[in-house]
Amino acid sequence: MSEKAILVVDGQQIELPIITGTEGERSLDISNLRSRTGLTTCDPSLGNTATCKSEITFIDGEKGILRYRGIPIEEFTENPNFIEVAWLLISGNLPSSEELAEFRDLLTANELLHEGLRHQFQHIPVEAPPMAILSATLSNMACFYPGFLSLDTPGTFNEAAARLISKVRTIAAYSYRRSQGLPVVYPDPSLRYCANLLHMMFSIPYQQYVITPEIEDAFNLIFILHADHEQNCSTATVRTVGSSRANLFASCAAGVSALWGPLHGGANVEVIGMLERIRAGGMSAEDCIAAAKQRDSKFRLFGFGHRVYKNYDPRAIILQQTCDRVFTQLKITDPLLDIARKLEELVLKDPYFVDRHLYPNVDFYSGILLRAMGIPTNMFTVCFAIGRLPGWIAHWKEQHDDPGSRITRPRQVYVGSGKRKYVPVEER
Ligand code: ACO
Repeated sequence: MSEKAILVVDGQQIELPIITGTEGERSLDISNLRSRTGLTTCDPSLGNTATCKSEITFIDGEKGILRYRGIPIEEFTENPNFIEVAWLLISGNLPSSEELAEFRDLLTANELLHEGLRHQFQHIPVEAPPMAILSATLSNMACFYPGFLSLDTPGTFNEAAARLISKVRTIAAYSYRRSQGLPVVYPDPSLRYCANLLHMMFSIPYQQYVITPEIEDAFNLIFILHADHEQNCSTATVRTVGSSRANLFASCAAGVSALWGPLHGGANVEVIGMLERIRAGGMSAEDCIAAAKQRDSKFRLFGFGHRVYKNYDPRAIILQQTCDRVFTQLKITDPLLDIARKLEELVLKDPYFVDRHLYPNVDFYSGILLRAMGIPTNMFTVCFAIGRLPGWIAHWKEQHDDPGSRITRPRQVYVGSGKRKYVPVEER
């Protein structure tokens, strides 16, 4: 028998069904509450609201567990393969070797940008933020590939997904080249996913960028760790935009905009800014912690805290270990890594952070790792977006294929002025 909760309101008993997820998490179904009682529920930042049922990603924030389609993320750390994980998230299963080969071919076939899109880069100011370019160019793909605005056949969907996953790399690299005032480098079909991105970013006519196996693995891992995170701000944005039946390009472009914010994906840039200030002597690690604790300050300790994790973010653990490994393999050091370690040590002992269960999140070590691999700070959040794209696509498709999906349209509690009269301008 299905579980129910009883709500007593205005002397009337209302039965509310309890929905139970695969891992036993319980959710109160209030979808008929307003029609039965006139009441809405109020949860301004949706911290207590499940907005959908999803089969893609499972998180247990208390235990620090993250699984993609049931597979713990720790299992992707040996021989990391981002393309395989992208397929897993979108299709639901790990690809067979034939499916993987086909998907790779589809990515290769779609890596070039339409020349019309490429020409647009020439008119963008050199100092333009790469996240603005990424969002605008993904949206513009709707102008150049109108055949993918409706995705009702499986073949069309797979091709649209491959187009996005492949071209996002090319767009990212072109935005970097633009910021450097350098000519674009076309993709090389003989290169794999991450190698091709770095080739387009860093090769110059007289010197081809050659990726090392260590860097290729680390990049695959970074993208995998960012690939999905259930109903985070950007994915919830993609689902909200997609709920109006907006096309996949427009929905993912909106996801990029949401990701850009410093409380979300933009935190990886803020972390480096914070660590740089400490290194330059602008503030000590202790000052930084003290500033983050002040209630009236907008300053936050970037790279710490999470809406869902009240324990270590499992992605941060893997990234920290990867940092140690890559620094040793590449025989490099970075004073920012030492500062980050010290900051983490202080934070984990500080009662303010301990009481609030604030631990390092995915953004704390990802920037240091990207820096070690030669990625400039203004491209950090773009790298996050490249990794997150398969997750956005998987969620867009899950919602698109759900016959019960309705437009997302929350309610509000109006607290503005009561009815009043319009006053003509000369009488005001
Ligand atoms: N520094 C200082 N205080 C913090 C921090 C922080 N980084 N994070 C949370 N807190 C405090 C809050 O002010 C609140 O204090 P209070 O109870 O005294 O009012 C308490 O901890 C609880 O905060 P939450 O309600 O759990 O925070 P919320 O879920 O609203 O926000 C967020 C989560 C945005 C990630 C927040 O922790 C934060 O701003 N972190 C820094 C930015 C960051 O690193 N973002 C990346 C997140 S991961 C990602 O998006 C990929």
